[in-house]
Amino acid sequence: MNFAFTEDQLMVQEAAREFAEKEIAPTAVERDIQCSFPYEIIKKMGELGFMGMMVSPDYGGAGYDTVSYVLAMMEISKVDASCGVIMSVNNSLVCWGLEQYASEHIKQKYLLPLAQGTKLGAFALSEPEAGSDATNQRTYAEKDGDHYVLNGIKNWITNGISADYFLVVAQTDKEKAHKGITTFLVEKGTPGFEHGKKEDKLGIHSSDTCSLTFSNCRVPVENIIWEEGKGFNFAMNTLNGGRIGIASQALGIALASLEASVKYAKQRKSFGTEIANHQAIQFKLADMSVRFEAAKALTLQAAALKDAHKSYVKESAMAKLYASKAAVENALEAVQIHGGYGYVREYLVERYLRDAKITEIYEGTSEIQKMVIARSLLQ
Ligand code: CAA
Repeated sequence: MNFAFTEDQLMVQEAAREFAEKEIAPTAVERDIQCSFPYEIIKKMGELGFMGMMVSPDYGGAGYDTVSYVLAMMEISKVDASCGVIMSVNNSLVCWGLEQYASEHIKQKYLLPLAQGTKLGAFALSEPEAGSDATNQRTYAEKDGDHYVLNGIKNWITNGISADYFLVVAQTDKEKAHKGITTFLVEKGTPGFEHGKKEDKLGIHSSDTCSLTFSNCRVPVENIIWEEGKGFNFAMNTLNGGRIGIASQALGIALASLEASVKYAKQRKSFGTEIANHQAIQFKLADMSVRFEAAKALTLQAAALKDAHKSYVKESAMAKLYASKAAVENALEAVQIHGGYGYVREYLVERYLRDAKITEIYEGTSEIQKMVIARSLLQ
């Protein structure tokens, strides 16, 4: 596979890097400590086209390819993985699915502002009893005239507090298992729809995560995405692309961990020399670099297949599985190389470690990725 990037792709990467360094980095530590959502940053990211990167300009997007998206996601997440996941959910889990499957009415009314970044989206599939086992949906939507009435609870919803529009997956026919599942677009403020408290998380503090409750919440029939009974396929197809986004977020953390470690190893002295001269440290840096490059190659492979309109189900699962592991392992090694300094906030690497862990869990755990890969091999 040829990864000679085009000028456009490199330009997008450079723009994301510059934005991340100038606009995101200065407040990243404070927002992590305060657990505060980066409203101003997300607004500016919208203005620069980072919130609807792969959406056609006809619907307010930037019209970039998935490879450009990977590069931009990596640069943003390298500086702040919280901004990365906010961006990834809006781009991959919300905008992409709407452009592929929604009616023209939905695209004009909801996709346009989401892609322009003036509104924010969230994706609500997980439930208290339906995490990895996503077909086990308990949220139920019953038809009543020209509306559906939603009742149920969703869990672990990224952007759950700050989002304006939510893609909500629900059962519409309990007899039909996953073929009886439908996805709805629900607006914030719809009567009967409330969010829970902000979850107190290990990492990605600057993004918000919460549960959602639906109590006789009426949603117009026209807000069905794709068609009734296609909600599970919608979610699965959307998550394939979401996994490329999370793999890119993990790449950012893996690279940040490596770069911080190289810098520190050249400065810190022990036994009369910079620790970079110790083979114990050199071996760690070498392994970190290999992990990052291998993860990047897998992620770009999935992105390139998506751009070429070829199947990327197995490849996106492989990318997420490997990149998330690389992020955790690189962040762990970065803390180890920094010693005591790695365990305090001043040197950032403790945040990389806290942020890295979730990439092995959301948008399909590592175990689910292995199921997806194995099923692709065996089918
Ligand atoms: N891509 C496309 N279609 C897929 C698919 C994939 N990766 N995986 C399954 N499907 C389709 C199947 O083809 C089948 O469709 P048809 O009936 O039309 O042929 C349908 O889905 C059912 O498939 P299975 O019989 O294989 O279903 P299953 O129950 O045995 O397993 C699963 C499905 C792969 C385990 C699935 O439940 C899964 O992916 N679970 C993980 C869910 C997940 O990733 N959750 C993350 C939550 S979102 C999140 O984290 C958002 C956030 O806020 C950050």
